[in-house]
Amino acid sequence: MKIAIDGPAGAGKSTIARRVAASLGYIYVDTGAMYRAMALYLLRCGVAADDAGSQAKACRSADISIRFEGGEQQVILNGENVSALIRSEEVSRMASVSSANPVIREKLVSLQRKLADETSVVMDGRDIGTVVLPDAELKIYLTASARVRAERRFKEMAEKGALDGKTLEEIEASIIERDERDMTRETSPLRRADDAHLVDSSAMTIEEVTAAILELIHG
Ligand code: DC
Repeated sequence: MKIAIDGPAGAGKSTIARRVAASLGYIYVDTGAMYRAMALYLLRCGVAADDAGSQAKACRSADISIRFEGGEQQVILNGENVSALIRSEEVSRMASVSSANPVIREKLVSLQRKLADETSVVMDGRDIGTVVLPDAELKIYLTASARVRAERRFKEMAEKGALDGKTLEEIEASIIERDERDMTRETSPLRRADDAHLVDSSAMTIEEVTAAILELIHG
């Protein structure tokens, strides 16, 4: 059984996917973490964000895999667990640019398909329903307004003391910029698969969204 959850940043995909997977006893695969690990590798190699040729070359020497510890996905980059290093703004920015590179996508998509072949998964990302698992039994396109996503991100950063003087408006602007990049890139742009269920979480709680998806599975 394969469940695909796609949508823009901040729609709540990872929280929801994790809960749905736990409730079904499936593995939750966070594909964004793989693009982030690759971005970290490119940053470490000193490759420029606008140098697609060097990125394509460098990515060949990045061995990315995942393993699970206490049910939590860990991303391994050339033998090093980098899970705690991939959530910075710098990595987010690089991942948003380098994930448009077709050579990088090809490498990570094949890893994702292999994982889904081995076991039942709930996989989240941008192109899971459209490209990675077009034959998924259930596809969800989870979204929320840019304002609501910015508010969630603002709250999360404030709680961590990581706001660094950033305003809600600045966060909203960067979310809109990232959406634009993810939706207009040539390779595997973020879009709703024709057979995906649209779930707008703007006015829904985490529990309500999880229940709505489980209802789609159980009927
Ligand atoms: O979901 P996230 O923010 O962790 O994803 C990081 C970046 O990777 C984001 O810019 C979108 C990109 N991404 C992608 O292109 N395809 C995926 N399947 C998952 C993430």
